[in-house]
Amino acid sequence: MLVSGSGTNLQALLDAADDESYGARVVAVGADRDGIAGLERARRAGVPTFVERVGDHPTREAWDEALAARIAEHEPDLVVSAGFMKILGPRVLGKFTVVNTHPALLPAFPGAHAVRDALAYGVRVTGCTVHLVDAGVDTGPVIAQEPVRVEPGDDEHSLHERIKTVERRLLVDVVGRMVREGWTVTGRIVSIGAGRR
Ligand code: GRF
Repeated sequence: MLVSGSGTNLQALLDAADDESYGARVVAVGADRDGIAGLERARRAGVPTFVERVGDHPTREAWDEALAARIAEHEPDLVVSAGFMKILGPRVLGKFTVVNTHPALLPAFPGAHAVRDALAYGVRVTGCTVHLVDAGVDTGPVIAQEPVRVEPGDDEHSLHERIKTVERRLLVDVVGRMVREGWTVTGRIVSIGAGRR
């Protein structure tokens, strides 16, 4: 699992995995920075962590290569990006199936300020999306979405917190189903029941 911040989505997956019938568990947590709550949550749960900073590498490509190698050490069936604030490169994406969670109904409001942008636009309904990661910014195939109503008086924080409540449930549901049901990914097609990648 890849995180850059508070890691409440990570916590939801850690909690879900406490129940063996969930069928998936978090084998490692990687971050692009130190000192974040997400890493602390992983440590508390006894899950191995690693940090790979872009700034520690001469190029973005070298970082991508190093990150792919760090992830590979843990042999995950699936990589989950939740609040990971870096664009993944071709090494990581070529080697792993990566799903990301985004706090808007894609393709509306991609990017790092999805909640702010939705509010500024004046939408009455926004939501969250779990999607496969491709080389673009929040452009990969959508797996699941859920709407969240914008309430009068909402600001970025209140709306984001309400979206995150729904987002955590959606992510836990999708990741559990992907692993339990052995989803495979071919190009833009996600199919069920054909064995693990
Ligand atoms: C989530 O809303 C995610 O979609 C967005 O950042 C937030 C991360 O929250 N990109 P957390 O770190 O899981 O608490």
